Amino acid sequence: MLSVAILAAGKGTRMESSLPKVLHKISGKSLLQRVIDSCVELNPNKVFVITGHKSKQVQGSISDNKKIQFITQDPQLGTGHAIQVLCRAVKKNEGKLLVLNGDVPLIKPETLNKLLNLHDSKNADISLITTRKKNPYGYGRVFLKGDFIDRIVEEKDCNKQERENQLVNAGIYCFNWDNLSKIINILQSNNNQKEIYLTDTVSLLKNSLNLEVKDNGELQGINNRIQLSKCEENIQNSIKEKHMLNGVTFINKASCSISEEAEIGKDVIVEANTHIRGSTKINSNCVIGPNTFIENSYIGLHCEISNSTVYDSQIMDNIKIGPYSHIRPNSKISSNSKIGNFVEIKNSQIGEESKLNHLSYIGDSIIGKSTNIGAGTITANFDGKKKHQTRIGKNSSIGANTVFVAPITLGESVTTGAGSVITKDSKDNSLVISRSKQVNIENWKRKKS
Ligand code: UD1
Ligand code: MG
Repeated sequence: MLSVAILAAGKGTRMESSLPKVLHKISGKSLLQRVIDSCVELNPNKVFVITGHKSKQVQGSISDNKKIQFITQDPQLGTGHAIQVLCRAVKKNEGKLLVLNGDVPLIKPETLNKLLNLHDSKNADISLITTRKKNPYGYGRVFLKGDFIDRIVEEKDCNKQERENQLVNAGIYCFNWDNLSKIINILQSNNNQKEIYLTDTVSLLKNSLNLEVKDNGELQGINNRIQLSKCEENIQNSIKEKHMLNGVTFINKASCSISEEAEIGKDVIVEANTHIRGSTKINSNCVIGPNTFIENSYIGLHCEISNSTVYDSQIMDNIKIGPYSHIRPNSKISSNSKIGNFVEIKNSQIGEESKLNHLSYIGDSIIGKSTNIGAGTITANFDGKKKHQTRIGKNSSIGANTVFVAPITLGESVTTGAGSVITKDSKDNSLVISRSKQVNIENWKRKKS
């Protein structure tokens, strides 16, 4: 029987933030959600998440999972106190209890499994993960006696000599829960931080083992924004390396960010300062960027998107977008189309081989195949209360600076005169003009005042 406890009640004072520390995100996912996702891979019987500081906000951030039970620790008197509260709240303290700090977000299930295996094979009372750090500042120092852990001394309680010890506590423990519950209430707060330390259990339990793991960034704890940024860098490096090995070129790797869920095809070139977020799929042979942001979107084959933003949309094959265009949610641009500069498209479908090359706003519209939208065309889709639809048939040619006052429907092969404000529907094959006739008054002189 395996239970997990995740410590997530602390404020995270060193973050200097109004947001609880465990809700800070790396690569789009909170620290706490990452720890949860990692431990559920072990298929535990129960996951206890211990919350305290802004507990409602922390609890509300977690995606539904029947195995999760929240335990409230109020006030927060230290990591040992958190487990005292847990042991009191849960009737049967049995089997293994894996305790994870909520601020060590990159821990892998494989590493947790190694710890569980060591724990089982040696029938330990407590086993915990340690690592050697060149700069151990901030971590609890682990002192061994033979094969066992003798004690852990927190940074603030270390003397000069103890501080030099580079073997540190990663904040990941496996306990024999029954034995832990027998000593948990002995823990005291007679230390420099006046906190009840979970780490003091190693001296109270008999069989205390350590699993030393080589630090590859996985054990990075987050107490401040410098460490947060280090973790982001670690995760981004591994995501980009995965894509590079699969055939993606990054022109300026450090300036780009890619979500973990993103899929990128072969021979895609990601130019500088490009950010691919959420569940985006980019197919082969695209050039994305520079200065481009794409979120939750599908990008087909052979597309070129530069200096532009795309949200929640589908861009099919052979499409050029940009520079400086904005494709807003729920848009579909069909294959072989061209979206040029300073074009905003929202909740619209653009037919194949259509062109919107310059300075347009197209909202709530359906535009047919092979239609050319002239420079400066605007859909006036909002009447102050509701949004309305504009429909333009295939093979149409929309003159520069046309305004469509929606709701409006134009047939196929329609031409509109430049500068027209279109308020009435039109049939197929029409020329539609709505503008005052030009008057030229010859030899005209301004009146003298
Ligand atoms: C802790 C360990 C330290 C270890 C380091 C690894 C202790 C005493 N020290 O130090 O040995 O090297 O983690 O990253 O455990 N929390 C609660 N309730 C509380 C206090 C904290 O739930 O009353 C939670 C925090 O939200 C956090 C976790 O416990 O997720 C760790 O607390 P933190 O204050 O960050 O401990 P560290 O100083 O990092
Ligand atoms: Mg910490």
